[in-house]
Amino acid sequence: MSAQRQGLAMSGTGVEGARHFERALDALLFFRGEVADEAQAVVAASPDSVMGRVLCAYLGLLGTEEKEAASAADAFGVFRKGLDLAGISSRERLHVAAAEAWLAGDLHGAGRRLGELSTAFPHDVLALAVGHQIDFFTGDAQRLRDRIGGALGSWDDLDDPWRGPLLGMYAFGLEESGHYEHAEEVGRQAVEQHPQDVWGIHAVVHTFEMRGRFADGIRFLDARADDWASGNYLNVHNWWHYALYALEAGDLDRVLGVYDSALHHDGSEGLAMELLDASALLWRLLLAGHDTGDRWAALAGAWAGRADGSYYAFNDAHAVMAYAGAGRLADAERLVADRERRLAVGHRPGVTNHAMTRDIGLPVCRALIAFRQERYARVVELLAPIRHRLGEFGGSHAQRDAVQRTLVEAALRAGRHDLARTLLSERVHLRPVCPYNWLAWARLADRVGDAAQAATARARAGKQAAEGAAALRSA
Ligand SMILES: [Fe+2]
Repeated sequence: MSAQRQGLAMSGTGVEGARHFERALDALLFFRGEVADEAQAVVAASPDSVMGRVLCAYLGLLGTEEKEAASAADAFGVFRKGLDLAGISSRERLHVAAAEAWLAGDLHGAGRRLGELSTAFPHDVLALAVGHQIDFFTGDAQRLRDRIGGALGSWDDLDDPWRGPLLGMYAFGLEESGHYEHAEEVGRQAVEQHPQDVWGIHAVVHTFEMRGRFADGIRFLDARADDWASGNYLNVHNWWHYALYALEAGDLDRVLGVYDSALHHDGSEGLAMELLDASALLWRLLLAGHDTGDRWAALAGAWAGRADGSYYAFNDAHAVMAYAGAGRLADAERLVADRERRLAVGHRPGVTNHAMTRDIGLPVCRALIAFRQERYARVVELLAPIRHRLGEFGGSHAQRDAVQRTLVEAALRAGRHDLARTLLSERVHLRPVCPYNWLAWARLADRVGDAAQAATARARAGKQAAEGAAALRSA
């Protein structure tokens, strides 16, 4: 449904610009690469298009790439200087305010303005899609769910082609807030409407991950590989999910095969959002004691080549994983020292990443380094106080589980049996099907001399892994 068709006027935008804008939105909703060209085509055809300029600003921010964001800020700044706010619609003014807030580093402020916008204009699909990603970057499960849920009641045309991707977003919000069955049902509706709705596919994939249904997850992804496995912005991340299933199934060859072919290789583009998946997978393998050859070295080199400044704490933690994994502890320490220096310069309340870094990013980075130094009691000291707040630095439950597992491993290795038992008890009751949890439970039982309980837990892990392994074999 186009902006025009929905009665959403676009200042300074001619017919050709509007046509490109609609194509850009369609590409954005389905994570297709042509979104960037289409957005540029809007402003080429209509240089005064407010929505075209706003869209270009958002696209410069959605990749969490500092340098792209800086270019987007420059370009939008020039446009903004010549813009008469009185001459544009209230909807466009809210978009301008949201884009300016985010360009200035205020993700929460941008998310709030987009929320106001969605209340007044629930058909504005750009406000919903961008707001949804902001909720993801700020790890806000409730807003991930309610921002979209609050708009869906106004999307009563069931044949509207953009209603499907909204259902995919809603499914992800439902999943992150723990409504797994409902999330799966809504996500499947989205994928039924548009088989190439990779965000909808991703939402369903998360529901399997969180319920330990990795055999179902493997089958679900295998059955529709043509729709998600290449040619979109989310394919690396969905391959990461596939690798998580394979890891739970105990198929290390498959995990490394996916890593080498999809997650990180010589042809990888080196985007932060892709490198972090590679880091997160190798870190899980490191925690489990698997040798991953020279993969850490290549990955750490890719992170180092980016020379990132303090921009997004969630990315920082994954860069530190790579440095620590590769044994480049001096580089990891350097990143931490740089972020500490920036925080010391002064409090910047309007910059979301400031608090993210101070409260979550730095403790996590320090813990990852301490883990590699085998200072497990220190890891516990750093992570235990923030383990219920990790969401504040963004990402999904599944992504942050790499950090939660670091705490479990550290508690086990530090001999903190009380804490390890508590953490594992939480985990096995929340997700009874998860070989990782049961194997860790078995190791704890070994340490406290309960051989019978260890054997039971190992048998349970083996049985659960076998089902996933069978699904992989039939793939
Ligand atoms: Fe995910």
